[in-house]
Amino acid sequence: MTLEADSITIRLVDNSSEDRDSTTILVHDGETLLEAMLRRGIEIKHACRNAACGICLTPLLEGEIDYQGRIPRGLSKQEEEDGYILPCIATCKHAITLDSHRWSS
Ligand code: FES
Repeated sequence: MTLEADSITIRLVDNSSEDRDSTTILVHDGETLLEAMLRRGIEIKHACRNAACGICLTPLLEGEIDYQGRIPRGLSKQEEEDGYILPCIATCKHAITLDSHRWSS
């Protein structure tokens, strides 16, 4: 797949594997990170899709996400401080990198 220079992408890195396999996914405008990953066939654990259950909890390795004014209720203060995000309501304006090891095994 060819990516345009200004494309917004999610790079998924499995930090638990020795070779740190990675996958790059294009994010469409207005699409949540969860929607982008599901569209590409990435099997990320999810349930509520509204930031309540915390099942989609994922470490953000690089970049910034935006909850667009929504409150990630399923994310504790400690998890937030430790760099975790909830992809089901998160969007991004620039390329980000996520650690996929929690839900790729
Ligand atoms: S799917 Fe429930 S918090 Fe993301």
